[in-house]
Amino acid sequence: MADMFPHLFKPIALRHKTLKNRIVFGAHTVNMSLDGTPSDRHFGYYRERARGGAAMIVVEPVPAHRTGVLIRANFRTQDESTIPYFRRITDECHSHGTVMIHQIYHVGQHGDQDHSWEPYWSPSGLPSFHDQHGSHAMTEAEIEEMIDSFVTQALLEQRAGFDGVDLFSGYNCLIDQFWSPITNRRDDRWGGNLENRVRFAAEICSRIRKVAGEDFIIGMTVSGGEPAEGGLGIEGKQEVAAWLDTRGLVDYFSVGTGSYLNDFNKIVPPFMYDMMLGPPDAAKYKEAVKHARVTAEARVKTPANAEKVIASGMADMVSLVRAQIADAHLANKAKDGRPEDVRPCISCNQLCIGRRLRETWVSCLANPSAGREFEWNGDVVPPTEKPRHILVVGGGPAGMEVARVAAERGHRVTLVERDAELGGQFRLAAGQPFRGEISQLIGDWYPHQLEKLQVRIQLRTDLRADDIRRFGADAVVLCTGSEPAGDGYQRALPGTARLPGVDQENVCSAHDVLAGRVVPGTNVLLLDDLNGWWPASGTALHLAKQRHRVTLVTAAELPAMALDHSKTDYETRRLFVEWGVETVCTTALLSWQGNSARLRNLMSNEEETREFDTLVLATTNRPNDGLSKALAKDGIEVHAVGDNVAARTAAMAFFEARRLAMTL
Ligand SMILES: Cc1cc2nc3c(=O)[nH]c(=O)nc-3n(C[C@H](O)[C@H](O)[C@H](O)COP(=O)(O)O)c2cc1C
Ligand code: SF4
Repeated sequence: MADMFPHLFKPIALRHKTLKNRIVFGAHTVNMSLDGTPSDRHFGYYRERARGGAAMIVVEPVPAHRTGVLIRANFRTQDESTIPYFRRITDECHSHGTVMIHQIYHVGQHGDQDHSWEPYWSPSGLPSFHDQHGSHAMTEAEIEEMIDSFVTQALLEQRAGFDGVDLFSGYNCLIDQFWSPITNRRDDRWGGNLENRVRFAAEICSRIRKVAGEDFIIGMTVSGGEPAEGGLGIEGKQEVAAWLDTRGLVDYFSVGTGSYLNDFNKIVPPFMYDMMLGPPDAAKYKEAVKHARVTAEARVKTPANAEKVIASGMADMVSLVRAQIADAHLANKAKDGRPEDVRPCISCNQLCIGRRLRETWVSCLANPSAGREFEWNGDVVPPTEKPRHILVVGGGPAGMEVARVAAERGHRVTLVERDAELGGQFRLAAGQPFRGEISQLIGDWYPHQLEKLQVRIQLRTDLRADDIRRFGADAVVLCTGSEPAGDGYQRALPGTARLPGVDQENVCSAHDVLAGRVVPGTNVLLLDDLNGWWPASGTALHLAKQRHRVTLVTAAELPAMALDHSKTDYETRRLFVEWGVETVCTTALLSWQGNSARLRNLMSNEEETREFDTLVLATTNRPNDGLSKALAKDGIEVHAVGDNVAARTAAMAFFEARRLAMTL
């Protein structure tokens, strides 16, 4: 069935290895180490992607040098004690036919002294863009020390069973800081003309080749043109790649997007960026090189897109990172001609890079097994020994996942939903600007899986406690979610349980607006008590797109603050400016009378009154737990998961649902 994607499943030689297909699980920091040592979590994570058919895996980077330590969970640099732990991973993945590479990185001037306790070493001592500190311009002796460090680390990787290394040479980090005229201002043999600027990279590659031998892959993660005046444009990057390629120093270039300069959000581009963001840059590298393989990265996402990239000759391989976090078995499903079974990544960044940036291990909103493979034996569910009839009440994220997993385990499942469609509140989120990819998960994938698993679905059915008692299921799972609290409660005013004026007719919830139940007036006050989380920011964009004049009032210091970790905050704020959303920060709403909002600035305590047509509340929901309470003492087996327990995110609903369904 690989004929559905003939180019994607055509093997390809890479130095001494043959990749069984073109699908790479590219480099990414998963933050799973224990005191710098690869953990069981790593083992399960990589094993699952190898089992799932990825041809090549690039394991989470290790810092090249003590000055390059970037995060709390970085692997220990040049530490022989890590070898057996890495060896366990490489042996296991090799047994599935996967080529194993380890990334070695150093971000140069953009370091993190909290983790390294070292000054940041860089070509020219320019400031970090990661924080407010300056960096140290390396002496020639220090450059030699750094090169040695890369080489020593590469040898250690070889002993740990890796087939090669991936040198982090993109995003304006140490290696490409040497390439770029804006970060390399040296006038010695390490700066100036092209040959001098490339010398650092060339020395690392040639010395690794010398000690590691011919049978060792040397790859490079690079990126497109620098988004800064005077920086290295894509033509400059092509020149560098061609220079290295002509000398046979690099076996592959993997081409990412974004950089530490001023487009950090594009390194892991969320849904606001175009699909296939990276392949055009990969195609430019492909034009420039004759020997090295080229890998396209960034928002390729689906097997169909990957096939297009390879078939069109834009690149030789594709790296699908988030797509394979969301579904570890993407490659095998595509190979078997079942791309519709691939659980789609929705490009939300919430639990992958979102958790990485919160200094914890990477998981996935859509796939709660990500990062838990070692506990759950991968992304599989164990068959039940005792099939039962399970009634699931509520068809949002939690309900759909409970139903799917319970049915896959062999239970007979009935899923009952009050609305005309499945998806719950997440369906409303899918209607917000740019967030349509959510529908691929809840509107396409789940319904398809539930149908295949013969889950009985009853829509437009609002079950009461008596109906549930009469239903006679062996177990009931309540996934009834949450609903707008409607009281206008704000964290900034904890003593005010109910906003004065909240019962007026010209007040509604963000949910009312997104569901189309209420069409607000022209001039809208949006009360954001969610720190800018999606029901607030997304609704502001939704209204602005429909040409309402929107004023967003928040107690937070910055609009869209809660979107920071998913790297969707900057683009949201930019859109607020572009689409004319007025943002009023550090401000609480004291009352709403007629059309007047009384606002208090929380910094100055100054108050003002402003006029609007409609007040839209984006505040924390409250659980829809009436059925839980009504059935609590009935003696029937009842479970509750997701927002029904406490109003939170879809990610928690999917997770709790999976965890529960595996025990039913
Ligand atoms: C959690 C996370 C951590 C990442 N860390 C790294 C990294 O350490 N090194 C690297 O070269 N790229 C890193 N990336 C970028 C990915 O390699 C890739 O370029 C990016 O996710 C876009 O590809 P995708 O759309 O297939 O996810 C990271 C991505 C994610 C999601
Ligand atoms: S958390 Fe979101 S962006 Fe990240 S892999 Fe999962 S679905 Fe994709």
